[in-house]
Parts: sequence; structure tokens; C-alpha cells
Amino acid sequence: MERTEIRVFDTTLRDGEQSPGCSMNVEEKLRMAHQLDRLGVDVIEAGFPIASEGDFAAVRAIAAALRRPIIAALARACREDIERAWEAVREAAHPRLHLFLATSDVHLEYKLRISRQQCLERATQSVTRAKTLCDDVEFSPEDATRTDRNFLCQVVEAVIEAGATTINIPDTVGYATPAEFGELIQILQQRVRGIERAVISAHCHDDLGLAVANSLAAISQGARQVECTINGIGERAGNAALEEIVMALRVRSDRLPYDTAVVAKELYPASVLLSEITGVGVQPNKAIIGRNAFAHEAGIHQDGVLKNPLTYEIMIPQSVGVPDSRLVLGKHSGRHALGLRYEQLGYRFEARQLDEIYRGFVALADRIKQIEDYHLLDLIGSGKAPAQSTISAPEKPRAVAASPPPLNDTAVPPLPTKSGSKPDLPHFPRAPLADHHGEQEDYLWGV
Ligand code: KIV
Ligand code: ZN
Repeated sequence: MERTEIRVFDTTLRDGEQSPGCSMNVEEKLRMAHQLDRLGVDVIEAGFPIASEGDFAAVRAIAAALRRPIIAALARACREDIERAWEAVREAAHPRLHLFLATSDVHLEYKLRISRQQCLERATQSVTRAKTLCDDVEFSPEDATRTDRNFLCQVVEAVIEAGATTINIPDTVGYATPAEFGELIQILQQRVRGIERAVISAHCHDDLGLAVANSLAAISQGARQVECTINGIGERAGNAALEEIVMALRVRSDRLPYDTAVVAKELYPASVLLSEITGVGVQPNKAIIGRNAFAHEAGIHQDGVLKNPLTYEIMIPQSVGVPDSRLVLGKHSGRHALGLRYEQLGYRFEARQLDEIYRGFVALADRIKQIEDYHLLDLIGSGKAPAQSTISAPEKPRAVAASPPPLNDTAVPPLPTKSGSKPDLPHFPRAPLADHHGEQEDYLWGV
């Protein structure tokens, strides 16, 4: 199957930063930009230089520091913004000016108070101006998905004629559905003269939880750049999550013949760094990088994963930089996981002994949400001490702070919590992968 390269345009430092509580200072943006560089994204949108002195300085610092990726600076479609953006980004090895102007009637009438004709002229003039400064100009018709299709095509054609080389189609308010958004990309390709001279890009917001699905629909209809953010941060419900788009393309490469240059192992470190910098964690069940993304609590699942991770995992945690699977001990856990955890704590039980401990464990798990190591030690310390444990146990194990077994060398620190004090979930070493790893991993990645 022929495969097509998709450009990843990361806007964590611009649209992502517009997320409540996610603003970053210059030094923090620079740290994050270095991680985005390690991640291998093609374009880093470093900021909106006219917005503040800090944003200007951050864009400038990133432009000077990183030589591989394209560094984009955002500007409204007006001279002052464009000049400020250029001033900030001009030292980049590969600078880009990203201009935007709303095109939907609701924005023209109520926000900008200009006519369609004025909008068309402003768009064309600003791209012409930007092009005198920078070869690489991207144009975004803001609120494109709620814009009259004929007018949208007219604007896009005019800005390509004026020199725009990337046309970004924003679903600014996260209103589109996947089929509709894919259709819009098709319409542009069919109706806009000169569209083949530009790269079409998708920029989706997540107000209906469809940002990633819409981005994938756009790719399948010809978009060759996707705009996204780490952890899906961004205005309101956020932007399309970079890690989800990248891993959907990779894990389902059998259905999606598209590649990105992203180094998947850097996804989790990028997520952790962003949470650490902003103090905003991700929801536990967030796909790919959430605390529970590779956690298994149900006994049947734990048993399956211990026998062969492929039973309940569609990707290998380490492939996205997550140190290991996690078996969470709770009321749905089974004997297999419980016995393994005790072994890691230094105790081995015969089946009958484990049965008895398991009964106590289930009764406790019915009362509390999650069982920590110290609960397990308490259980066997209160009259249920093993007759034989292969590794000598303390006489009467007392409650101790939960301490997960040491992680391997590639371990990444757990996500910070707001309080910073909650112990991390227990990490379980994976069942040996030796006998199935190669073949099945190949199957998973479709290579
Ligand atoms: O969502 C949006 O419309 C934007 C533009 C500035 C591209 O972020
Ligand atoms: Zn946006």
C-alpha cells in the first residue's frame, strides 16, 4: 500500500497556551519547544508575538534555538501583527508566518463588522504583505466550517494567488462532524483553482469530542498537515490531541496509509513535561498518555494481560514512552494479579493461602476504592501471615507507605498530581514478551 507523509504542526505553545491555566513563560516555552523538537514534529507554532512582550520573546528564543523544525508565528491579517510576527520569527532556520482572518458571516457581522468583500481584500492584502517578508506563508480562514462554501472557496483561491503555501481549515468552534469536514476538504480540492500549489491543513477543536476524528477525516480526503496539541490542550474543550492522531495513524496503519515523522517514544515524556510546566494534569482515562491508558483492574483483564498483553492492549506502553502497564488492585482484580503483587513485595503463597488472603482482599476492596501496598501488608500481618514465604518476611509487616518497585532505566516520572503527594499506582513488570513480542508487535504496527 502506498503511504503518504502527513506534516504535524504542533500548536501547544500557541493555541494550547490559550487553554485556561496553561500559560507559560519564556523559559517554560523554550523547554517545551526542545521536547517538541525531540518528538520530531514538523512545525512548532511558537506563539502570537503581538499578544504580549513575553510571547514575542518566547517566539524569538525558540526561533534562535531550534534549527530543524519550521517555526511559525501567528498574526492577524493586519500590517502591525505581521511585522511583529516577522520580527520575532525571522532568525529561525525555517520561519513561517501564519495569518488568520475570520470568514463566517457571524464573525464578519458581529466580531469584525466588515463585509465579505472587505474580508476578501484584507485577506489578499495581508498575504501579499507577508509574502514580501517570508516565503512560507500559511493562511487560516477562521471559523471555516461555518463559512458559506462559495465564499470560502473564493477567499482560499485569492490567498493562494497572493502566495499562501499552506491553507489551514479551522473548525474553530468544534462544530463539524467527520463526514462533513472530509467533504469540505474535498470541495476545496474540486473548486479552488491553484489548490494543488498549497498544502491543505486541518485544525480541529474538540467541543463535540470530534477533533481527532475530524482531523483523520480531513487526512483521508487530502489534507496533508494536521494542527494539534500535546494532551489536546487548547481553547475551551481543546484542540485535536497530537498523541491520539499520531497513534491512530500508527496502530491502524492497515486502514490509514499515512505516516508522520513523530518519534512515538517521546509522546509520554512530552505529556509529562507539559503537565509539569502548566500544573494541569490530564484526565486519568485520556487515550495514550492518561494514567489509566495502560492500567487494568478487572481480574479477567489482569489475568489476560499477564499471560499476553495483546489480549487487552492494542499498543505497547513502552512504544509511546510509558514505562509499563499498570495492574490496579481493586475489587475487580483476580488472584493472579494479587499473587504477583505479593511476590513483588517479597511473599509467595500456596494456592490455598492465597485463596484465604484473596477473600480478605475482596472484602477490603469492597470498602475502599483502590488497594495500596500497605493494605496488602496489613492483610497478611493481621493473623494471615504465610506459613512459608520464599523470601523471609518481616515478623509482622506494619503499614508502610506504598512504594512501587523500582522502574527500569527508561522510566519516566509519573504524572504530577496537584498535591504532588499521592503515591503512584503500583507498576507491574510485564509478562515476558520474548515468545510473542517480535511477531505480534509487527502485527500491531502493521509493518
Ligand atoms: O481555531 C482557530 O480558528 C485558530 C486559528 C487562529 C487558526 O486557532
Ligand atoms: Zn484554534
